[in-house]
Amino acid sequence: MNEFIEKNLALMIVLIVLAVSFGGIVEIVPLMSQKTVTEPIEGLKPLTPLQLTGRDIYIREGCTVCHSQMIRPLRAEVERYGHYSVAGELVYDHPFVFGSKRTGPDLARVGGLYSDDWHRAHLLDPRSVVPGSNMPAYPWLFDTPIDTEVLPKKLTALRAVGVPYTDEDIATAGAGLDGLMEADAVIAYLQQLGTLITERR
Ligand code: HEC
Repeated sequence: MNEFIEKNLALMIVLIVLAVSFGGIVEIVPLMSQKTVTEPIEGLKPLTPLQLTGRDIYIREGCTVCHSQMIRPLRAEVERYGHYSVAGELVYDHPFVFGSKRTGPDLARVGGLYSDDWHRAHLLDPRSVVPGSNMPAYPWLFDTPIDTEVLPKKLTALRAVGVPYTDEDIATAGAGLDGLMEADAVIAYLQQLGTLITERR
């Protein structure tokens, strides 16, 4: 039997593919319906329109290239960054911003760690607060007003994939945000990161 399979390349390929996909299906499919993965943790709210704007700027500016948002359950990571990331914190994140490289520190629990003023100084000129930093400066965030008109559309799109925005949220999405700059949005986004699970460092 063995010899027969090993000498029939096509059959061997089919059997290998079958074996590998069986393994994949057994691991992945049950995960998709597990509550710990699909249910939000207690207190999780969708991002406010301002925070959501900040998140999109975070993605646009490539912050994800240098910063992960995924604390692994390893002692070294937990001691440095705080409680490891849990899936229930991230169920409203579309798309995920886990990132894959840490030129800078993980930001999954950076919320509340620094003041707004610190973030302001840091985004404007990282070296002014962290002398050895090689993070780029983002001065244009301070004189680019945020786009409020697109917000109802963004919230509607997110609602379509399961984020529980109400009709009222959508109708009032841009309200009260006139005059705010992109830096305000990015900071609002950073300041809530990981704050539902507060244990940090
Ligand atoms: C080229 C890589 C790079 C990019 C791109 C980058 N950063 Fe950083 N970032 C760093 C490095 C390195 C540090 C550590 C030194 C420092 O604090 O400046 C850092 C630190 C930080 C910190 C402080 C984290 C802590 O725990 O002390 C925050 C907040 C931050 N970055 C936000 C951002 C945001 C927001 C963006 C996008 C607008 C961004 N970074 C883009 C490299 C980068």
